[in-house]
Amino acid sequence: MDLQTAIDLDAATNRRVVLRRRPEGLLAADDVELEEGVPLPVPAEGEALLELDWIGIDATVRTWLSKAEGYLPAVELGEAVRASGIGRVVATRAERFPLGHAVYALPGWQRYGLVRDDPLATPLGEDVDAPALLALYGATGLTAYVGMIDVGQVGEGDTVVVSAAAGATGSLAGQIAKIKGCRVIGICGRDDKVHWLLDDLGLDGAINHRTDDVRARLRELCPDRVDVYFDNVGGPILDAVLDRLAMHARVVLCGAIAIYNERGRPPGPSNYFQLINRRARMQGFLSLDHWDRFGEVAATLGAWAAEGKLKYRTQVYEGLDSAVDALNALFTGDNIGKTVIRVSEEKTGR
Ligand SMILES: NC(=O)c1ccc[n+]([C@@H]2O[C@H](COP(=O)([O-])OP(=O)(O)OC[C@H]3O[C@@H](n4cnc5c(N)ncnc54)[C@H](OP(=O)(O)O)[C@@H]3O)[C@@H](O)[C@H]2O)c1
Repeated sequence: MDLQTAIDLDAATNRRVVLRRRPEGLLAADDVELEEGVPLPVPAEGEALLELDWIGIDATVRTWLSKAEGYLPAVELGEAVRASGIGRVVATRAERFPLGHAVYALPGWQRYGLVRDDPLATPLGEDVDAPALLALYGATGLTAYVGMIDVGQVGEGDTVVVSAAAGATGSLAGQIAKIKGCRVIGICGRDDKVHWLLDDLGLDGAINHRTDDVRARLRELCPDRVDVYFDNVGGPILDAVLDRLAMHARVVLCGAIAIYNERGRPPGPSNYFQLINRRARMQGFLSLDHWDRFGEVAATLGAWAAEGKLKYRTQVYEGLDSAVDALNALFTGDNIGKTVIRVSEEKTGR
């Protein structure tokens, strides 16, 4: 397809945050560099150039900055930090991405990014509520849905525990379990999050892992033990929940944020033997493998949201300068709901 453009590709320039050094622990300001005035790439056949409006901040981004083996290649030094985002097509050589249409993809921490015609780049049409898409209908909702329904196989009356329950994925996962008729206990790290889980999201119990004795609270709140544990954090909380599993329990390994900043490999869960005692199963999954269900799951989540059964909230950071703080908030617990960056106000050479 011939190149179609809505902007002057020679006059406009990119702003982007590139990786300069592999972080140790939290991302430091000088692990990355904000580059200005970068010439725009010209789309090749099958590619389109997006002008990004919103970037989603996902805990997984931190794993892509390390060299350790992961499910996607590590971000190379000098490359824009990989991240999900939604933007409008401003130049295209791909029929799937017409000029002016919004696309959801992994363009990274930058104002302009190329997308290729691959299954993960998802055309969204002209009218899109980008924050809702990042917080609910996109990868975050797909992860919560597939993890809770397909992997956790939650059923009416199950006792379900969710960690990072006030975060983007966990807040949806807990509500999905409620919709399926479960008793749901959320684990989070601040009292205002405890109140949000109980008062707004309607969970049945909440534990503050920073101030409560997690094991003691699990005994109190889960007298019939735990049928499904949706694990976002790993570490000591996973160990505590393993000690409280019911017979034939399902442990859904969604993520392990407690270890993403660690240098070496942490000791394994010392309570894994409980899987044997309780004839339980522990299973990891990746929402990427379920991308073909994007539309179907988004429709289900949308229907629940329209009925008022499923709520989400966003924590908005402004501009690419805030990217380091936005990512670190997920590790310090300073975030609640889905963390996003608005980049639509960024100044460029355009
Ligand atoms: N498998 C998949 O396909 C998939 C897809 C997307 C995300 N994920 C995983 O889902 C998890 C949540 O990701 P998200 O992007 O939605 O982030 P998020 O839940 O919005 O933010 C992360 C939360 O984790 C909690 N946390 C951080 N360090 C912790 C620690 N050491 N111990 C206990 N809690 C800690 C913090 O909450 P508190 O301070 O309140 O505890 C923070 O709010 C991550 O593990 C991520 O890798 C997996």
